[in-house]
Amino acid sequence: MTKIDVLLGLQWGDEGKGKIVDMLTPGYDVIARFNGGPNAGHTIEFDGKKHVLHIIPSGIFHPDKTNIIGSGVLIEPHIFQTEIEGLEERGVDATKNLVISKKTHLILPTHRMMDAANEQAKGKGKIGSTLKGIGPAYTDKVARTGLRVGDVLRPSFGSLYATLKEAHLRQARSLGFDTEAFRIDGLGLDEYERLWMQGLDCLRRFRFVDSEYLVNELMADGKRILAEGAQAMMLDIDFGTYPFVTSSSTIAAGVCTGLGVAPSAIGRVFGVTKAYCTRVGSGPFPTELHDDTGKRLCELGHEYGATTGRARRCGWIDLPALRYACMVNGVTDLFVTKPDVMNDFDEVKMCTAYTVDGAETDRIPFEYCTAAIEPKLESFPGWRCSLAGTGEYASLPGALRAYLDEIEKRTGVRVTAVSISPDRRDVLFKHALVQ
Ligand code: GDP
Ligand code: IMO
Ligand code: MG
Repeated sequence: MTKIDVLLGLQWGDEGKGKIVDMLTPGYDVIARFNGGPNAGHTIEFDGKKHVLHIIPSGIFHPDKTNIIGSGVLIEPHIFQTEIEGLEERGVDATKNLVISKKTHLILPTHRMMDAANEQAKGKGKIGSTLKGIGPAYTDKVARTGLRVGDVLRPSFGSLYATLKEAHLRQARSLGFDTEAFRIDGLGLDEYERLWMQGLDCLRRFRFVDSEYLVNELMADGKRILAEGAQAMMLDIDFGTYPFVTSSSTIAAGVCTGLGVAPSAIGRVFGVTKAYCTRVGSGPFPTELHDDTGKRLCELGHEYGATTGRARRCGWIDLPALRYACMVNGVTDLFVTKPDVMNDFDEVKMCTAYTVDGAETDRIPFEYCTAAIEPKLESFPGWRCSLAGTGEYASLPGALRAYLDEIEKRTGVRVTAVSISPDRRDVLFKHALVQ
């Protein structure tokens, strides 16, 4: 029986998970998504081309690997179809190596409407959702009123769909939301619904599986599985910066509930962090920089959302948050991405503790979203040179290695590798990978 290795984000998303999964895929037989849905945007670059995946696992560009969409994921059929067609244009036939759990929940067009209605009702306190219908679809899952992928094969699907849609329309109207004026991609609900129904036809071309049986059988067969997280630790529904979080379990424990495996099945836990920090949407971000340095990180790091195009908020790396993420997830290996963005910086800073309402702490306080949090910053010399063409870890500039050593020391977790460009080849290993 093999174990499942897990890769997840340790900050507020967009750490470069897609790139690292794609790079690690040759060492695995199976890549499985266990949480989130089209709110994710995972970028992969190779042969000078950029690919962004939302629902489909990042192993899809390797034709000999199986990709699984697990039960903990959400599928929006039209977005799924668009993604499948985009892959077809690039010569990838996903019907050959992608299977979908029958228990995966569906995002209806009216879930997307409810997302907009809820955000409008929250006003200034809005989450900054990606408006893909994530919160409302997981709400229906927990309320036991949702529809699942396996349901699309039932003769009664049409009436189940109509009942749920009506309930959403009633809810939206009760919030004072104008359902007639609502648009998705410029289309009214009825027009978008037609595309969504076509998406169901696309979905039916795929093999629907009992993924919990499949995954456990694959492990019993000695197959190596990598679980790919979406979003990240600090957006987790239970342990993130609630209420400014997503609605799924983004942490290692989510692999068990999102794929149907035992806690004892979890092997290595690969945590991805940027060498600095970003956040998109609302919510606390103690190390955020509102000055020119923040703007430089945004521009040099091309920090614009892969799903929504929104500018990401930027700041220094946050070690209390990183330590918290390592603790909750049992991270065994750190992958640090994007230090190259700071190549021209004279100094780089790390947040080593917070002052919360006057008292210093290195913990994430319950009052994270309500208290005044001041980051305690330590400065390190910049490396002031290009990293392009660096072939091995030992050839990285000393100042960068010292910076990475500091992250290792202060988290107590080894930095296994560092990524120095968007390209899948540019990952330098400090330690041999244990899989
Ligand atoms: P994900 O959601 O965690 O998969 O990350 P995203 O794809 O949303 O955002 C990461 C962005 O950083 C993408 O544009 C990647 O191409 C890019 N990227 C990943 N690793 C590196 C790196 O080491 N250096 C640079 N400069 N860009 C990187
Ligand atoms: P990947 O997988 C960054 C953020 C949204 C918003 C909050 C809730 O690419 O790292 P939701 O649509 O889930 O209701 O939004 O979470 N968010 C992400 N931020 N990367 C993501 O995914 C995100 N998915 C959701 O911006 O603040
Ligand atoms: Mg992303």
